[in-house]
Amino acid sequence: MIKKLFLENFRNFEKQSFDFSPYLTIIVGKNSQGKTNLLEGIYFIVNGVGFREVFEEELLLFGKKETMIEAIMIENNEPFSYQIKASLFNDRIEKKFFINKTEKKKSQYLNILTKTVLFSPEQINIVIGSPSLRRNYFNKTISIFDLEYKNKLNNYNVALRKRNKILESRLLIEKLKEELAFWNDYLIKQGEYLTEKRQSYIDFLNQNREVDSKSFSIEYLKNQITKERLEENFNQEVRLRKTIIGPQKDDFQISISGENIHHFGSRSEQRLSIFWLKLNEIRYFESQYQKKPIILLDDIFSELDRDNQKIIVNLVKEYQTIVTTTELRLVNLSNNSTNHTIDL
Ligand SMILES: Nc1ncnc2c1ncn2[C@@H]1O[C@H](COP(=O)(O)OP(=O)(O)OP(=O)(O)O)[C@@H](O)[C@H]1O
Ligand SMILES: [Mg+2]
Repeated sequence: MIKKLFLENFRNFEKQSFDFSPYLTIIVGKNSQGKTNLLEGIYFIVNGVGFREVFEEELLLFGKKETMIEAIMIENNEPFSYQIKASLFNDRIEKKFFINKTEKKKSQYLNILTKTVLFSPEQINIVIGSPSLRRNYFNKTISIFDLEYKNKLNNYNVALRKRNKILESRLLIEKLKEELAFWNDYLIKQGEYLTEKRQSYIDFLNQNREVDSKSFSIEYLKNQITKERLEENFNQEVRLRKTIIGPQKDDFQISISGENIHHFGSRSEQRLSIFWLKLNEIRYFESQYQKKPIILLDDIFSELDRDNQKIIVNLVKEYQTIVTTTELRLVNLSNNSTNHTIDL
């Protein structure tokens, strides 16, 4: 768990430190005070990246060339200092990672820390947005647990671009077939793994359907890549000059009590379905690592009524949870004496 965070020249914080409860910490403040930035600071120290920057230098306080973030983390009752220093160097950000003031390789540093599960308002797009947003979500989630998935996904995408290049070239059919053969085999091999892992994560979700009294489920609309399907669709691929078979065309459909939520769900049902996904990230993480993740909830309560707010607060009460809100009344939601409020 995180006990303390120091931010120096990070986003809008010049120099500030914050303390956290082992359970619920509520960050209260008006709009634009830096609530999300503070949450991003925690995310950054754990993951080595922020969650909304396009360019990494956005993380540095405007006009500054260096930022330093340090967290005191408690593991097995012992404090550890985790620190990241990032400096702007010839238009590039250079990051250095330290544990107890000793520099570590990034991979070493990231390996030791726990993980975060982030729940933010934009994530509703996973439900209401295009299939690519859902694929991205599952790719990111599965990659956290499965490095091989991450590698195979990379390989797949590189090979897919090459295959598409060949389809775009105006080769004669026989020559085209010959050129594609190698990439077909390669894509099938990588793709099979992706499909299989996506399927098993979806199975996991369907085994854990409940959020309070509500029941969610998800259907995997898979576009499997096989030799037969590639052959069947060959003519169409030649016409479109594009690969139309494979997991890059997968989609996922979430339902609440059997009803499709993407089009018919109410806003709060869509939000809760994201929370359902997040809850399962937590469960999955615990089942794989026997550790508890840190839960970051960014301004998610504004669209939910009191009952739904309570459901969420209740479900995360055994975890270190950090929430941001503009509404002071949320502070009264849970009256546990171990809770802590940061007033920005
Ligand atoms: N690199 C940076 N340097 C300085 N200020 C920044 C930087 N990046 C973002 N900011 C500013 O920090 C301020 C706080 O942003 P943040 O998103 O944390 O606010 P918030 O408290 O979450 O607001 P809201 O309630 O609207 O979500 C914004 O005004 C933003 O422009
Ligand atoms: Mg915010």
